[in-house]
Amino acid sequence: MVHMRRKLLSLVLAVPAATGIFSCFLTVSPSAQEKPAPGLAVDFDEPNLTPRERLGMRLFFDTRLSEPAGQACASCHDPSRAFTGNNNTTIGVALGSRPGVFGTRDTPTAMYLAAAPRFGSIVKDGKRVPAGGLFWDGRADTLEDQARGPFFNALEMNNPDTPALIAKIATGPYAAEFHRVWGDDIFDKPDAALDAVTASIAAFERTRAFQPFTSKFDYVMRGQAKFTEQEQRGLGLFTIRQKGNCASCHIVDEASRDPAKSLFTDFTYHALGTPRSMRIPKNTDASFNDLGLCDRVPMSGAKPPAKDAAQCGLFKTPTLRNIALTGPYMHNGIFDSLRDAVAFYATRDTDPKKWYPDGRKFNDLPAQYHANVDVETPPYQRRPGQRPQLNDEEIDDIVVFLRTLTDGYKP
Ligand code: HEC
Ligand code: HEC
Repeated sequence: MVHMRRKLLSLVLAVPAATGIFSCFLTVSPSAQEKPAPGLAVDFDEPNLTPRERLGMRLFFDTRLSEPAGQACASCHDPSRAFTGNNNTTIGVALGSRPGVFGTRDTPTAMYLAAAPRFGSIVKDGKRVPAGGLFWDGRADTLEDQARGPFFNALEMNNPDTPALIAKIATGPYAAEFHRVWGDDIFDKPDAALDAVTASIAAFERTRAFQPFTSKFDYVMRGQAKFTEQEQRGLGLFTIRQKGNCASCHIVDEASRDPAKSLFTDFTYHALGTPRSMRIPKNTDASFNDLGLCDRVPMSGAKPPAKDAAQCGLFKTPTLRNIALTGPYMHNGIFDSLRDAVAFYATRDTDPKKWYPDGRKFNDLPAQYHANVDVETPPYQRRPGQRPQLNDEEIDDIVVFLRTLTDGYKP
């Protein structure tokens, strides 16, 4: 078994290596002083996984589970890139199992989701707002729900139906293991078998490998390492309300020694006015807009509520843990460089032409939804001609701080 797993892993890991992982994941703008961070070396701690978690691992890396075969969860969620990667495209969105078939969203990290709340709402700044859920629009409530999606999504793994997927597992190399965990007759009941598949994957995604808390930031919080002056400045700019105010959404609890309190997201939804990405094939259709939250169709099968125009253009706040490894950035993968993602916040409102070359601010949103984009709260409150919210050095400081969020730090 151990032998087989090595083979599986090396197969998957060999793919990005062979296609030049470093050349395709951060297109560095010359001013950025950004070197591609080394990939993450993930220890799955296989001997200590429960049988269910281990089965989840097999499923996650199994490239036979797509139609046609060749694509696994790990093709888009590559461990060395903190479980992102878009199946190695360079256009900001993922390539599906069929040649030339692309999705419309950038692959988020599958890390640090074990504590993600179900879709619901929280009170923030005195207002009740939507929060929680998985996917950029929160349509899945749990990791189990989520794992159902990609297998049958025509733009991803493209299986026609549950029996087709289960047949691949029943005839595969770990079918006996599947029986041992889920019962002798599990493959006779495709729906129950699918529940077993998603429960196994979710169990694997809740293991330590997906939430190691081993970044420099974590060591500093535990009192086992010290930030450099620049990192410390970056953290300050990140949290201070009148500067970045980033932590109002990307939560950090500096007072706690428990890094789990700092997931760098409060799971709320916001319209940032992210520029339209003309790299996305679907965006050549001018009438297509990804509206995010207001088009959310719950995976649970629950009837979606009536469309709420105030929720159009809103996307989930992602964690920033391992952000140096998870480019491109934003739901549409518009930015290849982390520095650009930060600079966007600094000058969206003072120098909009830089971000919207067509001269139309918030050009990925129909005009009737522009009011959903915050232009009042820092860092968004400035106007053209004013000084940027963050100057170049301050942007650099924040980027340097964000690079302390990469796991695998050795103090
Ligand atoms: C073709 C690329 C691709 C494949 C294959 C794929 N994913 Fe994803 N994954 C994505 C994209 C893109 C999203 C975001 C989609 C959206 O928000 O609508 C996503 C979202 C997720 C999320 C939610 C992350 C968050 O922050 O909410 C998880 C968890 C996840 N995928 C796990 C998996 C698992 C498990 C599999 C295999 C069963 C898988 N993915 C297969 C591209 C892929
Ligand atoms: C009002 C809430 C809010 C504030 C304040 C905020 N962010 Fe974000 N952040 C978001 C949301 C929502 C997204 C996803 C937006 C999208 O995809 O369109 C995001 C995305 C990002 C991303 C890309 C993440 C990824 O995985 O693609 C980075 C990097 C980032 N933010 C950094 C920052 C920094 C640095 C600041 C402060 C200067 C900041 N954010 C302030 C809500 C916020």
